[in-house]
Amino acid sequence: MPDTLKLKDHWFTCAHEGLVRKFDGSALEAHEPCAIGFLNAASIDAVVALHEEVWQGLAVGEKGFMQQKPAAYFKTHFAKAGHGIVGIRHNGKLVAKSMIIAPSISEPYTWHVGVTPPAPDTQISVLQGVCVANAYRGNNFMQEMISGWKIFAAQSGKTHLVAEVEPENKHSLDNFLAAGFSAIATAIDASDNVPVHVLALKL
Ligand SMILES: CC(C)(COP(=O)(O)OP(=O)(O)OC[C@H]1O[C@@H](n2cnc3c(N)ncnc32)[C@H](O)[C@@H]1OP(=O)(O)O)[C@@H](O)C(=O)NCCC(=O)NCCS
Repeated sequence: MPDTLKLKDHWFTCAHEGLVRKFDGSALEAHEPCAIGFLNAASIDAVVALHEEVWQGLAVGEKGFMQQKPAAYFKTHFAKAGHGIVGIRHNGKLVAKSMIIAPSISEPYTWHVGVTPPAPDTQISVLQGVCVANAYRGNNFMQEMISGWKIFAAQSGKTHLVAEVEPENKHSLDNFLAAGFSAIATAIDASDNVPVHVLALKL
């Protein structure tokens, strides 16, 4: 097994072999060679492991790109209305995932000081904890997950998508901009005192 597994060719091969894009809400099947879709609670252990693996793999100066979370955070995720996870599996192994959050009246979004929200919280879908396993980088997986998020949010009746990215996180920023997002503000995240770009897209 090479250190870096590029799936670019395999991705297209998969398409002929039956790459399954399940944006219908059903769970991924383990036998699919390369598949993207919405995960259900049965995949939580794999989500927890992937999040931790990617966080541990970040260089010291990159640790702020995503927040380390306790397993309990992921386990309560599906109990919240409108939440979801979009993920990509290769040969049954989860290799990429993004958390979809639906702010609500009881759990509003934490807008940074000085940021004007593009819409009321209940109309917004937020993407957090985007990650691709190190060996699978460079296969456009983040772009694929953003496409899935757009579908999930639209099906949930949301009108606006929001994400936050540190200015130094070039790969994440490039993907959001390529997907049509624009920066509506740059603010200081009070939880760790670092600047973040607040990115938004109207569906
Ligand atoms: C941001 C992230 C999800 C993008 O992954 P991705 O979808 O595989 O990225 P892309 O397919 O757009 O990659 C484009 C190029 O950048 C490279 N690249 C992507 N992420 C990279 C990284 N973290 N470090 C170095 N190079 C990276 C790819 O190898 C590719 O190079 P190539 O064109 O020479 O093959 C991924 O870098 C990641 O998981 N980072 C850590 C967690 C994180 O920052 N999450 C975002 C929070 S907002």
